[in-house]
Amino acid sequence: MPSAKSYTSTLKFLHWFMAIAIIGLFIAGYVMTSMAPSELKWATYGMHKSLGFVMLVLLFVRLLSRMLRSPKIKSHSISAVHHFLIKISVPVLYLVILCMTLSGFVMSDAGGYGINLFSLYELPLLLPHCIIILF
Ligand code: HEM
Repeated sequence: MPSAKSYTSTLKFLHWFMAIAIIGLFIAGYVMTSMAPSELKWATYGMHKSLGFVMLVLLFVRLLSRMLRSPKIKSHSISAVHHFLIKISVPVLYLVILCMTLSGFVMSDAGGYGINLFSLYELPLLLPHCIIILF
């Protein structure tokens, strides 16, 4: 399998875009859940869910890209421990993002609330309505 010498500019852009978006999602998540019911609250929920869904899609894009072109870690200047930490932190981070996005998606979808992607396209509900998940 070919292995890339370093990260491409597209992957670098994806990395920073996702990093900033995930920090924004954390902040928006905590802010929106503590807001009083209002148009702004539901609009924030809508944006949170849309952007969160985009993160889920981009996660798969990055996984696919890693499978096709695994970036090499330049190991000559770092210790074996550092190298090992880099190696395990990537799958751990991917797993955390997968859990965050999937749990949000399942909670919303199974509760009967679909995702209206940036108010442009209503995604169909994929899961059967399940009241138990709401508790
Ligand atoms: C990396 C992506 C995501 C991050 C970091 C994130 C983060 C958060 C945080 C921090 C909260 C507040 C939790 C609380 O205080 O109870 C929250 C709430 C919520 N998130 Fe996300 N989220 C993500 C993706 C998603 C996705 C993909 C969806 C749905 C499609 C979603 C739907 C929700 C909903 C509906 C709530 C409100 C829960 C409630 O009202 O109790 N999230 N999210």
